[in-house]
This record gives sequence, structure tokens and C-alpha cells, in this order.
Amino acid sequence: MTAALHIHQLNKHFANGKHALRDINLTVQRGEMVALIGASGSGKSTLLRHVAGLVVADASSDSLIEVDGRCVQQAGRIHSDIRKVRSQVGFVFQQFNLVDRLPVLMNVLVGLLHRTPWWRGWLRMFKPQERALALEALHRVGIAECHAQRASTLSGGQQQRAAIARTLVQGAKVVLADEPIASLDPESSRKVMDILARINREDRCTVIVSLHQVDVAIKYCPRVVALHHGQVVYDGPSAALTPALLRSLYGVHADEILSDAAGAPPAPVHAPTPVPQWTPAMVQAA
Ligand SMILES: Nc1ncnc2c1ncn2[C@@H]1O[C@H](COP(=O)(O)OP(=O)(O)O)[C@@H](O)[C@H]1O
Ligand SMILES: [Mg+2]
Repeated sequence: MTAALHIHQLNKHFANGKHALRDINLTVQRGEMVALIGASGSGKSTLLRHVAGLVVADASSDSLIEVDGRCVQQAGRIHSDIRKVRSQVGFVFQQFNLVDRLPVLMNVLVGLLHRTPWWRGWLRMFKPQERALALEALHRVGIAECHAQRASTLSGGQQQRAAIARTLVQGAKVVLADEPIASLDPESSRKVMDILARINREDRCTVIVSLHQVDVAIKYCPRVVALHHGQVVYDGPSAALTPALLRSLYGVHADEILSDAAGAPPAPVHAPTPVPQWTPAMVQAA
């Protein structure tokens, strides 16, 4: 079966000489939910941005990144057909990346722009069934009632849920979430992680989520990839990631990613809630 993500021999030096990623080899199967952990500066964002084709790897290396069997970049060159791959990859940013002054519904509809003729997008003429799709996605993330509000009026947690709804509407097969809960309070963090777990379970979406704290990784992700100074230092079951192992991997840096709950057994994530059918009247009103 084609892997959701295949990375071969990825290296990245930035212009200032920083060797941010070192010999990364990683395969993620479809339907997996994987946590990418590591202290600040370990290379999590850089790795995810390479997978999305936002950053180019070292030209000299024989690196290859494929998503769902399609080439994203090879030997330091973004593939010419990158748009097709990008439409399959949803990116959730720490700072949400919504357009503040646009209504939430419109922000979610942005997820459709890769398959909407540009003039319809620009004229904001989304079809009723597209608006219904966006409302349904907002319902799934629990903020349908906010659809008409400007994005800037939402709390951080609500904005992150809108950003996830955007990836749902996009129909992304792989969701890359870069520290999606780093700016959120504990309750909002729990909701956002529950939603990511649900789209992984219900939509069979492959989710790769970078997290600063290991207890959240252990709770939600069966597999953990740990980075340290740009290198993969652990790739295996999250259940095996004990504080002792983390200390042996990270040494004095372990405290940054360890918290009280590290090593605790994973708590079950929440049961899915049913999705309502949106009536034409509700869509019109949106
Ligand atoms: N554009 C850049 N130019 C130079 N160095 C960078 C750039 N982006 C990231 N880095 C460096 O690469 C390393 C990895 O950064 P990053 O991927 O942001 O780590 P993380 O997301 O794990 O905190 C850090 O040392 C960071 O300072
Ligand atoms: Mg980062």
C-alpha cells in the first residue's frame, strides 16, 4: 500500500549555515496519527514545512519527500506538480492563519479555493452545497454558531477549530498540525486535540502533529517521532516513551518536553458526535 508520507534522506542547511534537519528517514502509513515531539529548535516546524513543500531541502542531498505516492520535492527541487499534492495536505498553524476580517464561514471556504475557479472565489460566489459543506465542517468542530462572525472575534481555541474545519472542507488526506495547541489554554487544547483525533478516526485522515509536550503526544498518538537537534532520536510506540527513556534521549533538555503526566496511560478520546443534515434554509441563512 502507498504510504501517506515517505521521507528519504532529508537534510536542510539554512543560509546562515544552521544544519536544521539531519538525515531524516521517515515513513507514515495512511490512517496513522503521529506526534512529532522535541524541544524548541529541534526542527519540528522545519520538517513539517518541508513536507508541505513550503521549504526546499538541500540541493546536494538525494532527498525525496512523497505524500500519498506523489513527489513533493526531490534533491532540493519542488516538484512541478506541487499544486496537486498541496490540495491533499492540510496545514494547521500554531497561529491559526485565518483572515481576521472575513467571516468564519468564508475562512473555511478558502479550503475549497484549490478546486474553485478563481473568479468564483474572488466574487465570493460559493455554491449553496459548498456553503453547506463548510457549515457541516464547522459543526463537526463545534463552532457552527460562529459561522457569521469575523474570525478576529473568535477565541484562540475557536479560531484553531475553524482552521481545522478549513482542512476538512479542503478534503485533505494528510493533516500537518504544527504545535496547534501551543497558544491555547488547557480546555481549548483538549478540544482541538479531540477534533484532530476524530478526523483521524472517522475520516481516516493521516495526522502528523508536532507537540511541545510529551504527555499530550502519549494521550493522543499511538506513535511518536522524537527530534533532537534536527535528528530523529526515537520513532516508535508512544507507550514506550517513559520519562527515563526521554531523559536518556534528551539529557538536560528532557524537562522542556516532560510534564507531570508523562508516562501516564493514555486517556480515551471523546466519542464522536453525529453530524446534522443542513437544510437549504439554514444554508441560505448562513
Ligand atoms: N529561516 C531560518 N533561517 C535560519 N535558521 C532557521 C530558520 N528557521 C529555523 N531555523 C533554525 O532551525 C532550527 C529548527 O527550527 P524549528 O524547525 O523552528 O524548530 P521547532 O519547530 O522544533 O522549534 C532552529 O535552530 C532554528 O533557529
Ligand atoms: Mg516550531
